[in-house]
Amino acid sequence: MSKKIVVIGTGYVGLPLAIMLARSGYEVVGVDIQENIVKAINEGVLHLAEDKMKQIFQEPEVRKNLRAQKTPCEADVFIISVPTPLEETKRVADLTQVIAGMESILPFLRKGNLVIVESTVPPLTCRHLVAPMIAKTGLEVGKDIYLCHCPERILPGEVFHEIVHNDRIIGGLDGKAAEMAREIYGSFVKGKLYLTDDVTAELAKLMENTYRDVNIALANEFAAVAEGLGVDILKAIELANKHPRVKILKPGIGTGGHCIPVDSWFIKEVDPVNSRVIYMARMVNDEVPGRIAGKIRRAVKDIKSPKIVTLGATYKPDTYDTRSSPALKIIDLLRQDGYDVKAYDPVVDGYQYTSIEEAAKGADCLVLLVEHQVVKEEFARRENEIKKAMRHPLVLRFYPEP
Ligand SMILES: NC(=O)c1ccc[n+]([C@@H]2O[C@H](COP(=O)([O-])OP(=O)(O)OC[C@H]3O[C@@H](n4cnc5c(N)ncnc54)[C@H](O)[C@@H]3O)[C@@H](O)[C@H]2O)c1
Repeated sequence: MSKKIVVIGTGYVGLPLAIMLARSGYEVVGVDIQENIVKAINEGVLHLAEDKMKQIFQEPEVRKNLRAQKTPCEADVFIISVPTPLEETKRVADLTQVIAGMESILPFLRKGNLVIVESTVPPLTCRHLVAPMIAKTGLEVGKDIYLCHCPERILPGEVFHEIVHNDRIIGGLDGKAAEMAREIYGSFVKGKLYLTDDVTAELAKLMENTYRDVNIALANEFAAVAEGLGVDILKAIELANKHPRVKILKPGIGTGGHCIPVDSWFIKEVDPVNSRVIYMARMVNDEVPGRIAGKIRRAVKDIKSPKIVTLGATYKPDTYDTRSSPALKIIDLLRQDGYDVKAYDPVVDGYQYTSIEEAAKGADCLVLLVEHQVVKEEFARRENEIKKAMRHPLVLRFYPEP
C-alpha cells in the first residue's frame, strides 16, 4: 500500500488508529502538539494503558510505518482526531481544537486528498465549518478534496478488540469521499462499514451516546423514586425486566467519561426545541453524584470526625479512564464539606493501595464507588477482615450486582 496518512491528534482515538493503519501497510505520520506524546511514539512507547495495543505497537511493520511529529506534512489522507470538549458555560461543543487541527493541514492539502473528521462533532460541522475552511484554500470540496465524517465508538480498555470488530459509520459529503474512506477503514476493520452522508453520520454518533445517557437517566430516576418509597430498586428492575420488551438499565453513581456527559449537548445545541427529554436526562444524571454524596453524609452523620475511604476513581468499572468521573465528583463534594476522605483505585496511577484491608484500616466508612472486578473479588474474599480493620465496620455499596 503506497498511501501516506497523517493523523492529527494521537490520543485515545488517534493513536490506536495510527497503529492499525501502520499495521495495514500505510505510511503513517501521527501529529500531536504535545512533545512528550510525539517523543513516546517515536521511541515505541505507548502512553495508553492498552495491553494488546502495546504488543501491536512493537510489531516491526508498525514501528517501520509509523512516526510522529509536531507538525503535519503532505499526505494522501488526513484524519482529524482531536478533542471536542464541552464549553462549560454555554454547554456547546468547543471546536477550537478541530479548527486548529484543520488550519494546520490546510497548507499541505493537494488535489485528490481525503480529509476525515473522526472527532465527535455537532451535526453540520463538516458542511458548515470544515468544508468552508478547505474551500478558502481555493480547493473545491467534492471535486479536489474529499471530506468525510467517520465517528469512533471505541471503549477505553478494549481498544484493540473494538477498533477492529466494531461496525463503523462512514459519512461522506459525496459518494466518492465515502468510497475512499471505506478503502482506508476496510484495511483493518472486520466489522461492517456503513456508508451514508456526513450529517447522518454526525447525528447517528451523537444519538448512540444520547440513547445511553437517557436510559441511564431513567434508571437513576427510578432509583430515586424507589428510594422514596422504600422499594429495593434492583428487585423492582429485575421484575420489570421480566416484560418481554422492557430492558431497564442499572442505576449508578452518575455518568462520566469523555462521551456520555458531553455528546447529548451537541444535539441540543443544534435543535434545543426538540431536545427536551435529552436535556432533562442530562440534568438528572448530573445530579446523581450530589445525591450519592448526600447518602454518604447521612450514613456517617452520627460518627464524630468520620474517616471515609473510597474505592474507585474511574468513570465506570474495569476501565482506567477517570475523565469526568462521577466518583471523583463525589469525593470532591465530600472534601468540600470538610470530610476526611482517602480515595483509592487499584487500576489508576496515584490511587493504588496494597490491599483493601490496608486502605480501610482505621476508617469509619468504606465506600465502594466503582466496583472493578478485582475490587469485587478482593472484597468478597476478605470482607470480614476488612471490616475488622476498620474503626466502624460501615461499608456502603451502590447498586452492586448480586
Ligand atoms: N476516548 C474515547 O473513548 C472516544 C470514543 C469515541 C470518540 N471519541 C472522540 O474522539 C475525539 C478525540 O478524543 P480522544 O479521546 O482521542 O482525545 P485525547 O485527548 O485522548 O487525544 C487528543 C490528542 O489530540 C492532540 N491535539 C489537540 N489539538 C491538536 C492539534 N491542533 N494538532 C495536533 N494534535 C492536537 C492532543 O494533544 C491529544 O494528544 C473526540 O472528539 C472524542 O469525543 C473519543
